[in-house]
Amino acid sequence: MLPLILLIFLTSPSPARSFDCTFASTYPLTYSIPYTSFPPSLTGDPSLPPWPSVPPSSPFVDITGNETLEPRLGTNFKMAYDEDYLYVLGVLEETEVWANITEDNQVIFQDNDFEVFIDPSGTNTYYKEIEVNALSSLWNLCLNVPYSDGGYENSSRVMSPSFDMLQDNKTDKHWPTLKASSKTYPSTCINDPTTVPNKGWGVELALPISGIVYNTTSSPSPKPGDFWRINFSRVEWRVLTSPPDSNGGGEYYYKDPSYPNEDNWVWSPMGVVDMHEPDKWGIVQFAHPQSEATGGTEGGGEGKVTKVTPVSRYGSWGCREVLMNVYYAQKSFYASSAKYTSDLRILDSLAPVEGACLKCGKVEIEVYDEGWRARTEVGGWRGTVNQVRKLVVEEVGDEEGELDE
Ligand SMILES: *[C@@H]1O[C@H](CO)[C@@H](O)[C@H](O)[C@H]1NC(C)=O
Ligand SMILES: *[C@@H]1O[C@H](CO)[C@@H](O)[C@H](O)[C@H]1NC(C)=O
Ligand SMILES: *[C@@H]1O[C@H](CO)[C@@H](O)[C@H](O)[C@H]1NC(C)=O
Ligand SMILES: *[C@@H]1O[C@H](CO)[C@@H](O)[C@H](O)[C@H]1NC(C)=O
Ligand SMILES: *[C@@H]1O[C@H](CO)[C@@H](O)[C@H](O)[C@H]1NC(C)=O
Ligand SMILES: *[C@@H]1O[C@H](CO)[C@@H](O)[C@H](O)[C@H]1NC(C)=O
Repeated sequence: MLPLILLIFLTSPSPARSFDCTFASTYPLTYSIPYTSFPPSLTGDPSLPPWPSVPPSSPFVDITGNETLEPRLGTNFKMAYDEDYLYVLGVLEETEVWANITEDNQVIFQDNDFEVFIDPSGTNTYYKEIEVNALSSLWNLCLNVPYSDGGYENSSRVMSPSFDMLQDNKTDKHWPTLKASSKTYPSTCINDPTTVPNKGWGVELALPISGIVYNTTSSPSPKPGDFWRINFSRVEWRVLTSPPDSNGGGEYYYKDPSYPNEDNWVWSPMGVVDMHEPDKWGIVQFAHPQSEATGGTEGGGEGKVTKVTPVSRYGSWGCREVLMNVYYAQKSFYASSAKYTSDLRILDSLAPVEGACLKCGKVEIEVYDEGWRARTEVGGWRGTVNQVRKLVVEEVGDEEGELDE
């Protein structure tokens, strides 16, 4: 037997050649966004056009990706777009529908909520976060870079002038206004433990595209085929029901003190309890128009929704993953030695995917006093990343030259 085993060993492909530089195993979830010529009603009702003719996302999972922590309650989303807005429908199963926050631009995740994170140009910079509760209260903010890279919230909650897409404080008064509408099922169940059973809540968001792309290189008029990076999350607190109080007050929900931390259920799992890693978000693509439209008579409306086309390949993924492996490796090196390195062998040993720094495009790293920058070219794309996670890629042959700003 020994010679045979040896032969197999000697003829098996070398690890260098079998390394997958497309990084297929880390490719996130994708969703194709149809164009709609019929704006949603903004009532929070999933049965009204255009939603019945739009396919749902996959069900949300626990943020860690740990399959044994399967969410107790189902969640999914649908999306559609037109010239002004990206529309999002969130559908949340819930047995105890409650919400306390009635003002906008508050910390909405202290209630149960539905959250959208959008990085239109996929640079990990100036990404937007929108949170909404079952009372339609909204919080909208812009992050220059993720918190863990020294980023900070820019919103009307914390500063002025600020980034804001809401009517009263809009950063640019020409932007269409950010709107949300939640609807509970049954309609009277919110904050009322005596209404049983509760089925859940739906929320419709109208996200102004011009506000979402603010401070990014993405177009305020997305073309069919354009990609954005998006993720969704649902924060869920465990609650208990009070007894009716002695003053004749009704029963109410309160947070269960034996579960001090919230659950986080997400569309595409992050692997860590942190939504602020835009490089791990899902890939969405504005659908190509098709002559054949669906949903014409759904709900009696005129709703025309372009047929959803399969999401095409996000060609820059391999280049992005090489650079993000360098980023995570530098971060880990810095944590133990308080400095950065240009030694690719050391970095590769610390990278989330072993081989990522050595086996695809040649990686060049410059280390400065305050940080570092890496560049590479993989699979027809070249790009750079730096110590605050700013990631810029372009197709080779595209002479726009955004990399050297
Ligand atoms: C997944 O979650 C279960 C239940 O909390 C836990 O016992 C297990 O260790 C987790 N697995 C991983 C890989 O973290
Ligand atoms: C609008 O902006 C002002 C000033 O920053 C702030 O005090 C106020 O709370 C904001 N309103 C909302 C709804 O965010
Ligand atoms: C917050 O955003 C507003 C609008 O873009 C901008 O004018 C302001 O300089 C920003 N503030 C900070 C501290 O980033
Ligand atoms: C937009 O970019 C400018 C210039 O870099 C910056 O001063 C401003 O704070 C940014 N706005 C937000 C909301 O981050
Ligand atoms: C909602 O607010 C009321 C009044 O402050 C409080 O008693 C209750 O515990 C809150 N509910 C939850 C679930 O936090
Ligand atoms: C969404 O975000 C969560 C939390 O960061 C992450 O675990 C998950 O992979 C992301 N999903 C997608 C599709 O990117």
